[in-house]
Amino acid sequence: MAEKKKILEVKHLKQYFKNGRVTTKAVDDVSFDIYEGETFGLVGESGSGKTTTGRSILQLYKPTSGEVIFEGKNVEKLKGREEQLQFRRDAQMIFQDPYASLNPRMTVEDIIAEGLDIHHLVKSKEERRARVEELLETVGLNKNHASRFPHEFSGGQRQRIGIARALAVKPKFIVADEPISALDVSIQAQVVNLMIELQKKQGLTYLFIAHDLSMVKFISDRIGVMHFGKLLEVGPADAVYDRPLHDYTKSLISAVPVPDPEVERKRQRIAYDADKEERDGKERTMHEIRPGHFVRCSDDEVAHYQEVAASYE
Ligand SMILES: Nc1ncnc2c1ncn2[C@@H]1O[C@H](COP(=O)(O)OP(=O)(O)O)[C@@H](O)[C@H]1O
Ligand SMILES: [Mg+2]
Repeated sequence: MAEKKKILEVKHLKQYFKNGRVTTKAVDDVSFDIYEGETFGLVGESGSGKTTTGRSILQLYKPTSGEVIFEGKNVEKLKGREEQLQFRRDAQMIFQDPYASLNPRMTVEDIIAEGLDIHHLVKSKEERRARVEELLETVGLNKNHASRFPHEFSGGQRQRIGIARALAVKPKFIVADEPISALDVSIQAQVVNLMIELQKKQGLTYLFIAHDLSMVKFISDRIGVMHFGKLLEVGPADAVYDRPLHDYTKSLISAVPVPDPEVERKRQRIAYDADKEERDGKERTMHEIRPGHFVRCSDDEVAHYQEVAASYE
């Protein structure tokens, strides 16, 4: 297999929010890499810091500390306006709520063309319209709908508009922040399948954020599990899902309903004592237990996780 190239490196990222005397450690020393062309699924309950991680990567916040390296360059230290603009083109976001994220007073054409305008990617009104129509078709919408307004579309169609807006500037990397969780279950798969198809055709790399582990498993090559601002486990999607190491990952998996009613009736939720690991004051870092499969633990817990991994064999 050819050597995989890292497109993104997140190193010891911390994002703390201060509100008076209260500090929320939304992201607390998180490190992971994303390889070119892959989908990295970031999963965790609401409030675990997934959105903040995504937004920090895209420089929508200035990190409290840590580094974000994109294509070998620290994005905080990009030199000059040109490099900064290039990063803002290369890395795009698809938002969770397709109702809130599209300006209701703008036409679909103006929404999709925003990036084209900012980055001066079209030279005339005709070229702008043609490019928007092409993008509408790319995401499975009718090209004649460019002059309509967001409220004229369903949730799934709006998210397709959001995807077209992200694609307009030909990005390499997209943070998709729970792109389907606001949509009807019946259309979630369509939007995910569109994203997979676009990834194949355009060689995109995704950071796919979700709280639903079963969806992340379906789309991701690798998965990271977040809890209270910390990354607890990272590994190949099937390994994390079928052979989880961390108790928290096990508890998340036990929360996924099983389609078989017989099995579902017997399903038991595994409880996870959330601050067990915070109470003992041990220093925990990522340890590689199996090739590419990491868990956050202290040095003296490594043997335990090796046993957990061995128990699956
Ligand atoms: N801009 C902000 N200011 C203050 N606190 C924030 C801000 N954004 C997020 N938080 C807090 O940080 C934590 C993580 O939030 P978030 O990243 O949105 O989690 P998730 O996306 O996993 O639901 C939460 O406790 C949230 O309340
Ligand atoms: Mg979120």
